Amino acid sequence: MAGVTLRDVSKRFGGVEVIRGLSLDIAEREFVVFLGPSGCGKSTLLRMIAGLESVDEGAIHIGERRIDALPPGDRGVAMVFQHYALYPHMSVRDNLAFGLKNIGTPGNEIAARIDTAAQSLEIGHLLDRKPGQLSGGQRQRVAIARAIVKQPQLFLFDEPLSNLDAALRVRTRLELAQLHQRLGTTMIFVTHDQVEAMTLADRIVVLNEGRIEQVGTPMDIYLRPASRFVATFVGSPTINLLPVTLAEEDGRAIATLGDGTTLRTAVAMAGMAAGDAQIGLRAEHVRIRTDGAVAANARVVERLGERTLVHAQLADGSALVAEDAGISAVRAGDAIRLSIDGSAAHLFDADGRGHHTSL
Ligand SMILES: Nc1ncnc2c1ncn2[C@@H]1O[C@H](COP(=O)(O)OP(=O)(O)O)[C@@H](O)[C@H]1O
Ligand SMILES: [Mg+2]
Repeated sequence: MAGVTLRDVSKRFGGVEVIRGLSLDIAEREFVVFLGPSGCGKSTLLRMIAGLESVDEGAIHIGERRIDALPPGDRGVAMVFQHYALYPHMSVRDNLAFGLKNIGTPGNEIAARIDTAAQSLEIGHLLDRKPGQLSGGQRQRVAIARAIVKQPQLFLFDEPLSNLDAALRVRTRLELAQLHQRLGTTMIFVTHDQVEAMTLADRIVVLNEGRIEQVGTPMDIYLRPASRFVATFVGSPTINLLPVTLAEEDGRAIATLGDGTTLRTAVAMAGMAAGDAQIGLRAEHVRIRTDGAVAANARVVERLGERTLVHAQLADGSALVAEDAGISAVRAGDAIRLSIDGSAAHLFDADGRGHHTSL
């Protein structure tokens, strides 16, 4: 078991810098998720740690050992891909044994490791089948088992759940969380899915165009997004962003929306300029209330069972998503009233940097 350190790591493809001087410390036993949109460099970074891509500049250490110039097999890592990459002509058992045989692991040791991994992933009954005789979910469990039998110091997962259907994705996600609890091995997991990131991570690393936007616990990222980019990437429905003008009262920012509504925020005005900015309001802080201060119109009503999302329009035409109880009387076209909790508002300055409650 070991932590991972990246120092000023860069990578170019042709003239394009896809990883830009990135530094990061991952603690031993930590479950870290790289989260970001397609093309931001998640896979490249993971492959650099695995040794499947070279490092142009900087250094990578696993534990005390500098590994960025070592061959992949000498790094003590095991990687699981979105595409399972199993050998189709070999049985599951032989797929699991293959890498271990190659490095001369004794037969009884291989059998024991396969036994343990098969038990923990409930694939014992599949060991004599070929990958072609397995469902997608079973194949992915075999791919995870193949990583486990290597007993690596570090697991690397590249969107391993993306090919699974929705129910299986949720189940496998839970199993990965349990696997991490059981093994306690350091894990790095790449995804573009914020729900996977929120549910699995000890810490999330939000990446944008080859740079780190923010590193934090899931709730840090949700409650104190460092930038507009992070705020819009995490949370469903997407955070409401509206233009506001800011003024100061008792050191706090007062935000005026386009329809004239003023909201007292809990954001310190220090570090922000008066005038134009953007306010970020999550749907759970914009509620439908008969005595709400803000007049709006319900355009689309989405009933999700446990809650109802109301896509509303304010008097000036600006749009935002409000939340109501699961059983909601609101229908599309209704005139409604909104109660907005200004104390939960985020503010974003002209550079897109986030400012939050100073509590
Ligand atoms: N082998 C390659 N050759 C050239 N460009 C590449 C190569 N691999 C990745 N890229 C580019 O690097 C960027 C980051 O890719 P990638 O790491 O796969 O992103 P992600 O996994 O976040 O979707 C993208 O612009 C992609 O097109
Ligand atoms: Mg990728």
